[in-house]
Amino acid sequence: MHLLVTGGAGFIGSNFIKYILEETDWQVTNLDKLTYAGNLENLADIQDNTHYKFVRGDIADNQAVNNLFSGNKFTAVVNFAAESHVDRSIQDASPFINANIAGTQVLLDASLKYKIDRFLQVSTDEVYGSLEDDGFFTEDTTLAPNSPYSASKASADLLCRAYYKTHGLPVLITRCSNNFGPYQFPEKLIPLVVSNAIEDKPIPVYGSGINIRDWIYVLDHCAGIKCVLERGVPGEVYNIGGDTQIHNIELIKMILSVVNKSDSLITYVKDRPGHDHRYAIDPQKIKSQLGWNLQYNFKSALIKTVKWYIDNQDWWNKVKSGEYINYYQKWYGIIK
Ligand code: NAD
Ligand code: DAU
Repeated sequence: MHLLVTGGAGFIGSNFIKYILEETDWQVTNLDKLTYAGNLENLADIQDNTHYKFVRGDIADNQAVNNLFSGNKFTAVVNFAAESHVDRSIQDASPFINANIAGTQVLLDASLKYKIDRFLQVSTDEVYGSLEDDGFFTEDTTLAPNSPYSASKASADLLCRAYYKTHGLPVLITRCSNNFGPYQFPEKLIPLVVSNAIEDKPIPVYGSGINIRDWIYVLDHCAGIKCVLERGVPGEVYNIGGDTQIHNIELIKMILSVVNKSDSLITYVKDRPGHDHRYAIDPQKIKSQLGWNLQYNFKSALIKTVKWYIDNQDWWNKVKSGEYINYYQKWYGIIK
């Protein structure tokens, strides 16, 4: 098996590559543009592994992608590469359209041309939109994305479906809930809360903090992707979720207690426009049809994750500089 992983220098992609190298003897090529979110330090411990190769490039660059496919015999593609932060998509949707939609189309075309055995699109529960207080997202829930980010991911899912229906490309789609774990870019809620708390900076909470997310430890997501890649039925969608719904404010207070900081750091700020109220995945299909199950307990994985950020301040100190500071000041305004 020679796997092409795109976006492997980001949060989930880097965890996935390390997981695959530990669990299998597969060859992995990582194609990543190294945007602000891509960081080769996430992969420092495997850079000399003979089963692994890094290539810098843009999935939306047709020529570069075709050169890569023609020079390698990839068996399968796992597409993580994307612009992934909702707030940035509110500021400027263009990079999301380019990477998430045009980039997926370029990869689908190359996969068709070079007769790839499996194409796995890493999608998100956000394509289903928002839930009220009851119910779950199943694979049959209507797509109703509310942010430019989720609209771009839903568009990519539909392209994948079309390449399966029209061209018979063996496409699989996974839709996962909110991941947490090491190497997550600190613009996202959990590493933002931990790093701001350590620095005694205000913790910005959108609205009144009552929004609900369904949290999953990143390695449970990685195991789900490997399971779908090996055993999923082409053309099918598989939801992956953590069975752990928590209000943002409750999660933030849990993190502050692990870091041993006061709740007084909590600062309520203007709500995210179009803020989805609740996500909750029904993962019954992947459990019953493919035998996947959660392996990590939420509380202990959260504590382990918070400790990782406490022990790896150098990692996020470097990341929280330059471009990040400009973004932070522009988005959060007066909060420093
Ligand atoms: P991330 O922002 O941490 O990483 C994205 C990676 O993609 C970066 O390394 C970046 O350099 C790379 N990239 C961006 N545009 C590229 C391009 N045009 N060409 C090549 N590389 C490019 O994101 P993440 O949180 O690791 O998410 C990875 C994938 O999983 C995304 O597709 C996201 O939609 C999906 N997802 C994320 C979550 C979550 O909770 N984080 C949940 C479900 C699904
Ligand atoms: O559900 C899967 C999705 O989870 C992925 O597709 C996305 O790539 C990923 O970024 C994540 O999206 P969210 O918008 O849910 O994650 P985020 O960490 O940005 O926010 C989590 C919740 O916390 C959300 O309700 C908004 C809130 N929040 C976030 C930030 C950054 C705050 O209250 N304050 C903040 O400063």
